[in-house]
Amino acid sequence: MPTPEMSLPEAPRPRVLVTGGTGFIGSHTTVLLLAAGYDVLIVDNLSNSTADVVGAIETVAGRRPDFVCGDVRDGALLARLFARSAIAAVFHFAGLKSVAESLVSPLDYYANNVGGVIVLCREMAEAGLHTLVFSSSATVYGDSDTLPLTESSPLDPAQPYGRSKLMIETLLGDLAATDSRWRIASLRYFNPAGAHESGALGERPRGIPNNLMPYLCQVASGERPELIVHGNDYPTPDGTGIRDYIHVMDLAQGHLAALDYLNTHSGFVAINLGTGRGSSVLDLVHAFERVIGRTLPRRIGPRRSGDIAACWAAVDRARELLGWQSERGLDAICRDAWRWTSTGRRPQP
Ligand code: NAD
Ligand code: UFG
Repeated sequence: MPTPEMSLPEAPRPRVLVTGGTGFIGSHTTVLLLAAGYDVLIVDNLSNSTADVVGAIETVAGRRPDFVCGDVRDGALLARLFARSAIAAVFHFAGLKSVAESLVSPLDYYANNVGGVIVLCREMAEAGLHTLVFSSSATVYGDSDTLPLTESSPLDPAQPYGRSKLMIETLLGDLAATDSRWRIASLRYFNPAGAHESGALGERPRGIPNNLMPYLCQVASGERPELIVHGNDYPTPDGTGIRDYIHVMDLAQGHLAALDYLNTHSGFVAINLGTGRGSSVLDLVHAFERVIGRTLPRRIGPRRSGDIAACWAAVDRARELLGWQSERGLDAICRDAWRWTSTGRRPQP
């Protein structure tokens, strides 16, 4: 005789929209959402990713997310998707993220990043959907003498990319202040790095990487001749810049914790996602060399324009509100980034 529970039909899985879900952070978060029992619909215009990431997500998670190739600024598309199936929440990763590019093409950054959020929030409201997790950045703080950076540190981004993120946070705060149905978490990422531990998913920058970790990986794989350390005359213990490197899977876990938080809290909240620890360029290089068992060619170059000396997160709010903290350290970041580079990485077309 089946027990009454056994004869019950399976409850439908809650479904979430992940914009930018074939990108670096969105793809890793999708893996955890699928593992946690959510159905995932990805909308990505593939401007900085490729459709084969959907298959990689399926390989890792054992379930395939739905995928629509489209732009978040296409309101009619979003309206159709929201009408087709009930969505419980939106994770909004889609956006442009290069500081250097934003200095050359600021309009593209405001149009895509700010414009995308306006269209998305309009269509969400129209569909009666008010739960949003947004990808913000530590770059909203600008340069600060007082560390670690708390969520109440002065906001003063130094470039259009950062200003687009701050504009969005302001907009989202205004939205939540005027309609109490909104539940919005703006997650301020510090320096995401690493890859999924399977080696099947990771970061795929187009062209010459700007960021330290993908650059180091390309030096180790022989694609670049040497690492140039951008300055060793900063007021830090070894003279090189200090950042808060956070493993992308820890970051992804922070998003699930944010969704849990929003299930019981309304309004707008900004939360740092970092480790709370700063590491210098040389700390990261040494950790990487330990992991791969050899030294890497490098030389000291001049400071990179616009760089700050040091930046790391105060993580108390994330711990208190989300019950979340990072678990992985520099060695895991380097090990997983290297596994991805040396085994799984496909070049972007
Ligand atoms: P990514 O470029 O790998 O992923 C972003 C994805 O969004 C890409 O797949 C791209 O094709 C897509 N996209 C861009 N504009 C779109 C649009 N208008 N419509 C649909 N899709 C669009 O970047 P990532 O590193 O995964 O970053 C995700 C988010 O986190 C971004 O908003 C970024 O600004 C933010 N962030 C990233 C970092 C970082 O260092 N990686 C740090 C702080 C904040
Ligand atoms: N660095 C080098 N050599 C390189 C690349 C980087 O020495 O080839 C150094 C930088 O000078 C800096 C550190 O490594 O001291 C980290 O640089 P990244 O470019 O990896 O990271 P940033 O902190 O400069 O920038 C990142 C994101 C930005 C975001 C910013 C603040 O890339 O999008 O964090 O959140 F705005």
